[in-house]
Order: sequence, then structure tokens, then C-alpha cells
Amino acid sequence: MSGGDEDALARIRRARAISGPAEARRLYARWASHYDSDVFDTAGVSGTARIASLLNSHMRPDGQVSILDAGCGTGALGALLHDAGFRHIDGIDISPEMLEIARGKGAYHALLEADLNLPFFPPQPGYDAVVSAGTFVHGHVDAQGFASLARLVAWDGLMVCAIADSVWVQDRFDRLLWELELETLSHGLEAVLPGGAADVHMLVAKRA
Ligand SMILES: C[S@@+](CC[C@H](N)C(=O)[O-])C[C@H]1O[C@@H](n2cnc3c(N)ncnc32)[C@H](O)[C@@H]1O
Repeated sequence: MSGGDEDALARIRRARAISGPAEARRLYARWASHYDSDVFDTAGVSGTARIASLLNSHMRPDGQVSILDAGCGTGALGALLHDAGFRHIDGIDISPEMLEIARGKGAYHALLEADLNLPFFPPQPGYDAVVSAGTFVHGHVDAQGFASLARLVAWDGLMVCAIADSVWVQDRFDRLLWELELETLSHGLEAVLPGGAADVHMLVAKRA
């Protein structure tokens, strides 16, 4: 692996070890301009594309469907969904620098800066689907944030989220899904780094 690859992987590891929102703001402010090239081009992280394909296989893309991308970052997931034919996509993220890159992709309807672990005012009151990749990770967004997001999903709507195994276990997601009355449609542990461990829960759940 080249030095560039090592640097990209080191930055990914550092992001997965942050302590909370203040550090998230600092880290992603510095990383925003080369996040896409590190994460997707160099490291080949596949979780974002996987969430897009899971939504595609459970919901027909059309202009009416409203989607919230939680922790949208630079907008890679929104861009994939827009290419697939989804048109009403809002994004929320704590980092203004990441949101600025997302804005440049032209895939989002509204973009909002907010800490998802605190009470927030979403761009609209409800969504057909909430999607998220790379956000339910150590030091990022926790079970409380997940619960707030689940309450924004319309009846019969979907949560399509990648959740790191460490967060899943620590925040007792099995119990949380039951408490939130979410019906699991598909769920499996998968690797998101080439050759890496299967340590991310890929969840599709319906608000039933
Ligand atoms: C690993 S990136 C994933 C970005 C994007 N979803 C993707 O698939 O590339 C994690 C994102 O979560 C955001 N984030 C971290 N903590 C957050 C919080 N408490 N509230 C909202 N966003 C947060 C970061 O700013 C960053 O953009």
C-alpha cells in the first residue's frame, strides 16, 4: 500500500476515535476538502454506496419521495441517490465545511447545520426515508440521535442506516429498535473497507 493510502487510512482511523461533537467539528473542518478522495478514491470505503443500493432496492426512486440524509458530510450519498432518480433529498451535518462541499454537488434540496445528538429542527417535519452512512460511529451520533431521526420517518417509511458494531452494542440497538417500534426488513454485518472486518450493521427498518 502506498504512503497516500496509509495517510488516508490513518485519517479514517482518527475519525473513528473522536471524543464527540467538538472534535468532530474540528476534524471534519480540516478534512472536508480531501475527504472524498481519501475515503472513496484511496481507501475504497463502500458503506455509502451500499446504503444507496439498499434504499434503491426497497423504495422506488421518484420525484415525490422525501429523504433525509443524516450526517450527510460531503454529500456522496445524496449524489448517488440523485443519480438514481430521487429528487427531494435534505441533508443535516454538524460540519459547515463538509456541508459546503455537499452544497456544491447540487443533489440536495435543503442542507442544515445541526448536532444530531441534540434537539434539532429538521428542514421539514417528516420523511419517507432517513438514510445515513458513516454517522453512527464512535464519537459521532448516538442512540438518542437515532431515536430523534426515527421519529421523523412517516408511517411505513424507512430507516436505512449503517451503524458501527461498537455503537450498536454499546447503545443496545437491538432493544432500541424494539422500543421505537421499528420493524427490521433487512440486517447484516458487513465490511466497508476492502479486506476489513465485517463490523458495520447495514439496517433497513420500517416504521410500522
Ligand atoms: C464519516 S463522515 C460520513 C459522511 C457521509 N455520510 C458519507 O457517507 O461519506 C461522518 C459525518 O458525520 C458528521 N457528524 C459527526 N458528528 C455529528 C453530530 N453529532 N451531528 C451531526 N453530524 C455529525 C461529520 O461532520 C461527518 O460529515
